[in-house]
Amino acid sequence: MSRIPLPYSPKVMDLFRNPKNLGKIEDATVTAVAGNPACGDMITFYLKINEQTYVIEKAQFESYGCAANIATSSIVTEMIKGLTLEAVWTDISWEKVAQEIGGLPSVKSHCGVLAVGALRRAIRKYFSDKGNTPAWMPKENTFEEKQALEEEELVKTLSTRLKPEEEKSP
Ligand code: FES
Repeated sequence: MSRIPLPYSPKVMDLFRNPKNLGKIEDATVTAVAGNPACGDMITFYLKINEQTYVIEKAQFESYGCAANIATSSIVTEMIKGLTLEAVWTDISWEKVAQEIGGLPSVKSHCGVLAVGALRRAIRKYFSDKGNTPAWMPKENTFEEKQALEEEELVKTLSTRLKPEEEKSP
């Protein structure tokens, strides 16, 4: 059976083949792992933050996702370097990331949402570990965060889906 290749932009293909900022930051200020319930793929973001200025000095990622996720994660790490956490939160949306990368096929939009959701979860985790939520951060999870579940939430969601019907209801 032959498969029709997805219409990825040249930039997606380039960053998929040669991702930037791939791998762990051993001394990261914050790390967040998040997965998308639509496909079960996971991503980890590592941020090195200047704790005086809240500027992101370094950002890296590990992706267990598809080409679109690797490419969007890669470009996110480039886009956020040198910005404050507040600027990243307000300016970096999945739509902006998709635009930056030359567009995503519609069936692959959730891959870009996962990249931004995992990033936002990392930023939220940074402040919640400190017990200090800044005024600019919404109390409720944003759309992107809701689509990028933490590892445990993802496992729970996926295992519920896999259970046979009779086991689901108590
Ligand atoms: S299909 Fe899962 S991240 Fe792209």
